[in-house]
Amino acid sequence: MTTSLQTPPEILTHVDAGVMTVTLNRVDKKNAITSLMYAAMADALEAANHDPAVRVVVIQGHESIFSAGNDIADFLKNPPSTQDAPVFRFLRGISSFPKPLVAAVCGPAVGIGTTLLLHCDLVYAGDNAAFSLPFVNLGLCPEAASSFLLPQLMGYPRAAEALLLGEPFLAETALEIGLINRIVPPTEVNALAQRQALKLAAKPLTSLLETKRLMKKGNAGIVSERMAEEGGSFGRMLQEPAAREAFGAFMEKRRPDFSKV
Ligand code: COA
Repeated sequence: MTTSLQTPPEILTHVDAGVMTVTLNRVDKKNAITSLMYAAMADALEAANHDPAVRVVVIQGHESIFSAGNDIADFLKNPPSTQDAPVFRFLRGISSFPKPLVAAVCGPAVGIGTTLLLHCDLVYAGDNAAFSLPFVNLGLCPEAASSFLLPQLMGYPRAAEALLLGEPFLAETALEIGLINRIVPPTEVNALAQRQALKLAAKPLTSLLETKRLMKKGNAGIVSERMAEEGGSFGRMLQEPAAREAFGAFMEKRRPDFSKV
């Protein structure tokens, strides 16, 4: 049986055969994520957690774009000023989600489009996938505990290139460092993610939950602590001159000038 949650049209959800699929559906804006979308995704994860009919969640975008990250205009309008802000609610939800999470990534995965993958159990990518973490270029700092998880995953020198320089990396590098599981043509990514999710959904849920919990146990405390610290800094830095200049430049389609900040 297929069911759907009530969500805004930019986030589609449906449940079929034990798998909830959450689709980012704002392709004209490159799947940039607004606070409304974060709230819908946080609600979907909460519903999936409590619904015994859901055993696995898949997060997917479009064949051409996974996500351009935070919606910059929305961030200016609705800055996440408290830990209850939808973006932080989503991040807490995904980082502590107890059931298996599978992601299907094609095209650019910017900012949170990459950092959310650090909390997925299986990630399948198109050969057009490109990962980038331009927080410093936006006058911000990392989120989603990526300041801890990325150096742990890829080693400090590579994490510094990704986080301090904001240099993008492609699917081959993501595979080599262990951020993703497999690279396939973009037309095959969503189907592969669904096949793997269905395999997981057929396994005993109690074993999946306990195995995931045990695998994540070593990092769980530090991840939640780091996310809270990053969130505090991120919220403050959003109001500061560097981010104001970076965001203004993006809206005006010009290069930012950080010479005075
Ligand atoms: N926030 C708000 N709007 C965004 C956006 C974002 N993060 N990313 C893209 N858009 C909008 C653009 O403003 C544009 O809108 P318009 O058609 O009304 O002018 C539309 O989406 C298409 O974007 P465009 O830049 O023309 O697409 P592209 O294919 O050339 O490039 C990206 C795609 C993702 C590489 C590029 O859009 C990008 O770098 N976006 C910003 C990413 C970013 O800094 N995110 C914040 C992370 S914290």
